[in-house]
Amino acid sequence: MVKNILCIGAGYVGGPTMAVIADQCHDINVTVVDINSSRIAAWNSDELPVFEPGLHDVVMRRRGKNLFYSTDIPAAIKRADLIFVSVNTPTKTFGEGAGRAADLQYLEKTARSIIEHADSDKIIVEKSTLPIRTAQALARVLSSNEKGIRFQILSNPEFLAEGTAIDDLEHPDRVLIGGLDTPEARAAMEELISVYAHWVPREKIITTSLWSSELSKLVANAFLAQRISSVNSISALCERTGANIDEVAYAVGRDSRIGPKFLKAGIGFGGSCFKKDILNLVYLCDYYGIPEVARYWEQVVAINDFQAARFVRTMLGAMFNTIADKKIAVFGFAFKSDTSDTREAPAITVCTRLLNEQAHIAIHDPKALENAKADLAGAPADRIAYCTDPYEAADGAHALVFLTDWKCFRELDFKRIYKSMRHPAFLFDGRNFLDHESLYALGYHVYPIGRPAMSHFEQKD
Ligand code: NAD
Ligand code: UDX
Repeated sequence: MVKNILCIGAGYVGGPTMAVIADQCHDINVTVVDINSSRIAAWNSDELPVFEPGLHDVVMRRRGKNLFYSTDIPAAIKRADLIFVSVNTPTKTFGEGAGRAADLQYLEKTARSIIEHADSDKIIVEKSTLPIRTAQALARVLSSNEKGIRFQILSNPEFLAEGTAIDDLEHPDRVLIGGLDTPEARAAMEELISVYAHWVPREKIITTSLWSSELSKLVANAFLAQRISSVNSISALCERTGANIDEVAYAVGRDSRIGPKFLKAGIGFGGSCFKKDILNLVYLCDYYGIPEVARYWEQVVAINDFQAARFVRTMLGAMFNTIADKKIAVFGFAFKSDTSDTREAPAITVCTRLLNEQAHIAIHDPKALENAKADLAGAPADRIAYCTDPYEAADGAHALVFLTDWKCFRELDFKRIYKSMRHPAFLFDGRNFLDHESLYALGYHVYPIGRPAMSHFEQKD
């Protein structure tokens, strides 16, 4: 019976996932450790390092009871029966595979610290998203210990999405557990199943081989991102032909074989996972000698880049091919709503391009302003304002551009904003989530994605 769980890596995945395990399993002690002491201090404070709806309540319910955030990695390793490894696995920026392969240095350092401090047998669970066959390398590193300790390696990728992490963890579509086909590995899998079985129905807990489990995670993300790139590619055709991408996506998604989810056109996907995991899949396909498959998946990322670039070109074209010295109010910087996370946010690309055109930008986001400041630290500071007040951001602007679909943006007083702007007043909806007809009626020149622009010029000309 698992009594003491440890998670190494207190990030967007480790922190919330362990909080939910502690909340659902009062009979298990859960400790989360990290080398980043300020992150651990934040987990132990009232200002958690991750904004996630519902997370604060879960942490407050269990912290100090059976949920602990700590920097004492050696003691936590010694105590644990089962260790989740949830460290970051970013795209490699150097050497072989740079720009595509996963950087596994954090994973390997974790394995070496487990060997150094462990003094009893343990189950090691890959929670991080990893290239296929990483478990083999992990097993080789761990089995090099001279203490005679046996480690069972399992793969248990995480499918939560940010912004809905708590609900995803409490009601997962499935829990995937991969292991080797040996009696010891099967016993370890049963131990992990018994943890999830506290709250997840057994039929939702899937078991596979180690390699299928590792690969399924990359493939799930690639399929989700592929749907977004597919719909975004068609949005470009809609803009030129008079079709409406939301109507097309609705009609297509009503086919039960296709389904309605992940067909929302926009400025493209962001977030720490999709691009990184597809690039990793591309690298693996090339590595295993199937370049045809690599080129196929590469296009998902290429269309995503194209979508952001063409969005800025649309802005430029609408605003008479110059935005130099014009003020543009940027609404939303987070990569999606309900999160403060800005990793790979399309807003970074769009804002950088606007600054390259010598525009002034005023950014407003309800949760992500601090991250935005860090992301744009290298950009010319005299051209960027960070505004906690949306009306201040819009005051005197030539254009509004919406890059995150925060619900609160729908409630803005667009009449008041229109009056405070320079005219003609442009509005670019990068998420297709505003009421375009009423904005047009207020006088805005509205540019949605995937449907013809609603401009007052054409009527007068
Ligand atoms: P993150 O960067 O937020 O957190 C990782 C943490 O690991 C950091 O706090 C870092 O300091 C810590 N760490 C690194 N090396 C360490 C070591 N040797 N010892 C102790 N701590 C160490 O990353 P994340 O977003 O939580 O992602 C973690 C993994 O989960 C990645 O592989 C990612 O692909 C995967 N994943 C992420 C999401 C998501 O939505 N963010 C969803 C599913 C899967
Ligand atoms: C994703 C996967 O959904 C999740 O299962 C995995 O564990 C981690 O990666 P995440 O990146 O947190 O989760 O958010 P997600 O909801 O998938 O959105 C990713 C990006 O795609 C966001 O920028 C979002 O705005 C965009 N998106 C999503 C669209 O543009 N259109 C859609 O229809 C859906």
